[in-house]
Amino acid sequence: MNTVSLRDKNLFYIGGVVRDKLLGKDSFDIDLTYSGNAVEFVKNLPDAQILQINEPFGTVKIKFEGEEIDIASTRSETYPQKGHLPVVQNIGCSLKEDILRRDFTINAMAMSTLDGEIIDYVNGLEDIKNKKLRILHSDSFIDDPTRILRGLKFAVRFDFELEEETKKLQEDYLNNINYDMSYKRLKKELAETFNLNSWRAFEIFTNEKMYTLLAPQEFELPKINLEPIISKYNPENIWLIYVGLLEDISSLPLTKQEKNIVESYNYLKNKHFEDDFSIFSELNNAPLEAVIMLATKDYDTVKKYLTKLKDIKISITGKDLITLGLTPSPKFQEIFDYVLKEKLKNPELTKAQELELVKNKIKVI
Ligand code: CTP
Repeated sequence: MNTVSLRDKNLFYIGGVVRDKLLGKDSFDIDLTYSGNAVEFVKNLPDAQILQINEPFGTVKIKFEGEEIDIASTRSETYPQKGHLPVVQNIGCSLKEDILRRDFTINAMAMSTLDGEIIDYVNGLEDIKNKKLRILHSDSFIDDPTRILRGLKFAVRFDFELEEETKKLQEDYLNNINYDMSYKRLKKELAETFNLNSWRAFEIFTNEKMYTLLAPQEFELPKINLEPIISKYNPENIWLIYVGLLEDISSLPLTKQEKNIVESYNYLKNKHFEDDFSIFSELNNAPLEAVIMLATKDYDTVKKYLTKLKDIKISITGKDLITLGLTPSPKFQEIFDYVLKEKLKNPELTKAQELELVKNKIKVI
């Protein structure tokens, strides 16, 4: 586990980093909380250089013995608007109150920076042992429905499952969704969950109808498992390959590039491909993500494209055509398409053979 050099009886590792240490896994980041006011604490530390202070949240970034360290003050929160960002209620509250605002028991433990003692007010250790995800109170999903996706993410990442009461509360929420929620936050959790490229996650997401968090809609699990194709071709926006298969994701704030992927897929899925040339021209122009998504509708076409056609290129260039005595014009594209069609039929064609084809073609046109 990554640790910091700073030690104090009121300074604790908290949340994911403690969970990961107990699971013997590496952490993405180290969260530290000071039981009290972190800003006051660092102001009184002789060797700390303060780099940044965020007063409203009581967080501070310092440089200490060459390390950059982020420290939060313990804080309690409320959700005046359910499903949206919480509002800080009290900075410098007790460690216990800070713990009780959190999502799952496995994420709600602290560890002393002084002696490594685990502070476990919520039986997180027991849940880690039994591989269970348990929320801390019955309004947890109502306050923050993104926690449903966080639960899915942790279930898949650690091979845990929801404890029974938590599962029931999740079902209750999914049967009575408040659509006035922050879809920016939901998108972040969808991306983190589905970037794991786990078909199992998608199965749970589908079977438990978590997709209704985006909009009331129906969805069936596709018969083609995309996980191995994604692993093989390693596209950039993995999460969108999964989520973009839903009928209605209009609630999500998408970037231009993300919108383009979804639009390309929706265009391709209604397309009929007549021959290899039409497969190549359509799919070669589409984002890789949309091509992989299409495998759920037309597996054979996508397989043919990815394994046989994708890397076929003609060798001749405009320069070669000029050398043959042609003047640049839209005819050039016609010639390239013609050679490409032939090359898709016979990928072994050499450049000399391509030029032969061109010469014969020029005679005709
Ligand atoms: N948290 C929460 N509710 C959320 C998001 C976060 O209660 N919707 C709390 C959890 O205690 C979590 C901590 O804030 O452990 C930090 O959140 P985050 O960095 O998103 O998650 P980690 O648990 O650190 O997990 P990861 O390893 O994915 O970063």
